[in-house]
Amino acid sequence: MENKKIEEVKELLQNDLKQMDDLKVLNDLKVKYLGKTGIITELNSEIKNIPNEDKKEFGMKVNELRTMFNDYYEETRNKIEENILNEKLSREKIDISLPGVKIPSGAPSILEKLIEEVEEVFMSMGYDVVDGPEIEEDKYNFEMLNIPKGHPARDAQDTFYIEGEEILLRSQTSPVQVRTMLEGKGEKPVRIICPGKTYRRDDDDATHSHQFMQIEGLVVDKNISMSDLKGTLDVLFKKLFGEDTETRFHPSYYQFTEPSVEVDITCHKCHGKGCGMCKNSGWITVVGAGIVHPNVLKMSGYDPSVWTGFAFGFGADRLAMLKYGIDSCRVLYNTDLRESVVFDRKEKE
Ligand code: DAH
Repeated sequence: MENKKIEEVKELLQNDLKQMDDLKVLNDLKVKYLGKTGIITELNSEIKNIPNEDKKEFGMKVNELRTMFNDYYEETRNKIEENILNEKLSREKIDISLPGVKIPSGAPSILEKLIEEVEEVFMSMGYDVVDGPEIEEDKYNFEMLNIPKGHPARDAQDTFYIEGEEILLRSQTSPVQVRTMLEGKGEKPVRIICPGKTYRRDDDDATHSHQFMQIEGLVVDKNISMSDLKGTLDVLFKKLFGEDTETRFHPSYYQFTEPSVEVDITCHKCHGKGCGMCKNSGWITVVGAGIVHPNVLKMSGYDPSVWTGFAFGFGADRLAMLKYGIDSCRVLYNTDLRESVVFDRKEKE
């Protein structure tokens, strides 16, 4: 009787154990035979009804069936998994002979690079690099720089006014001089540069833009003289344009410095011989500067009988254009990566 049952299950099993390629069907089959109420599981639980002398043989036969199923299960599962893997591998085959996708490479903006170079030179001389607001008060942009309301010097700086006559877009970075001295409270020496954006109502053309970058410098201390200014700018321009670059001053006029000068450097293209870039003079004017006017010191709380200083300001855009031989300032602000890559490569050559 019991043997008959075993034979029946064996026959059933032999019919079920066929080739297949579906893991789910295979697992369902496992539940059918070896699950909690599976056919082999239930057969096994009948052992308690078997006379003791037959128990051993019965148990062995049930185990044979279980082993038969497990062998089949393991083998089939391995085969199915291997098939899935092979199929995936052939689908995801990589063709290493295909040409790659070109990733465009960038390069730093030459204007940013020039500003960083200037910052490094001044930091190596102990200067702080400071910041100031681009939306500025008339007081700092003009009045405390010795340019009172109605003064004709204001006209030269076609200013963007934002609110009435008091709030404006700074037309120069010089207001940062005032802000820094006010912080020093007439007691602390000052040694700063301030690179930043400035704005003027200029018609935009190749050499003018309504927005441009200036770099301002200010030193206030005891016994500061014109020769300190000359020595300092000499170091800067030798670093930027080469060791053979020379610096010279010629008289100029600014409300906030007395005396005032403009600073020329020898043309780095012709090395002073004269060429198209320097209009055959061998020199190029690059900076406005001077000794800080006593009124400016006084208004910001520094006693001019104790303190003296020098100040200077120059256009970073213009310097970058000179250095890289660019004839349009628009190049400095466009976002075409190809151009910055070209400059980067030229510089490295
Ligand atoms: N702020 C002046 C300008 O925009 C440049 C300048 C000249 C700055 C002389 C200075 C200076 O600090 O002393 O044209």
